[in-house]
Amino acid sequence: MGKKVTAPELVKMKGRGEKIAMITSYDYCFAKLADEAGVDVILVGDSLGNVVFGDGNTLGVTMDNMVRHTRSVSNAVQRALVLADMPFMSYQVSLEEALKNAGRLITEGGAEAVKLEGASKHDLTVISRLTEMGIPVVGHVGLTPQSVNVFGGFKTQGKDEASAKRIMSEAMKLQEAGCFAVVLEMVPAELAEKITKELTIPTVGIGAGPHCDGQVLVMHDMLGLYDGFRPSFVKLYADLAPAVRDAFGKYAEEVKGGEFPK
Ligand code: KIV
Repeated sequence: MGKKVTAPELVKMKGRGEKIAMITSYDYCFAKLADEAGVDVILVGDSLGNVVFGDGNTLGVTMDNMVRHTRSVSNAVQRALVLADMPFMSYQVSLEEALKNAGRLITEGGAEAVKLEGASKHDLTVISRLTEMGIPVVGHVGLTPQSVNVFGGFKTQGKDEASAKRIMSEAMKLQEAGCFAVVLEMVPAELAEKITKELTIPTVGIGAGPHCDGQVLVMHDMLGLYDGFRPSFVKLYADLAPAVRDAFGKYAEEVKGGEFPK
């Protein structure tokens, strides 16, 4: 096992020009494989709602769901940093609820940092209190999937000058509030490059071009396991669905044919 990845170490990686590899995982087996493969950060994303629950969005994911899946992941991981998403409505209602819910992801889930979407005044207050309390926070701007109903779909953000300026300013505010990294989701590559140059903390892109300090992909997308919408920026690193379907099919055939067990 290599050296344990920590929040300060990820900031140092940016300083050294070393790229950060982040991937989502939601259970023990896949998290163990990702950790053994040398991924730096394992994100227990609320994309759980899309790729594990099949909900089509992240809005139905609860704190109890996140705590349970985060625990499964942290049980498996030795080297990577375990980052857990704060689900929809777990931090928006009040500062007190936000702090308690982030605390649950650390104490019950075993996460080492939390991520939340947006940069409103309330979000920034939550982030600075969490960092004061000793909980490292990752921000998330651009396409923030918990606001899908405001955006009217999963669309690239920051394409015009005004929204690009807003996203740049949000990223700066997140850094000032104490975030140790920021996810940039579905923004133009030129904007992601500008933000990456401006910030001292690392940017981690998803559909945001090659200039970010790191990249994150949803595990089921890059392994070809999810049959829902696959964004065009996703690279298929393996096409596992046919192999898994064949194995299940062979098993069913052999059980029905009396060939298994012998
Ligand atoms: O929930 C998730 O998987 C995420 C990534 C898309 C960054 O937030």
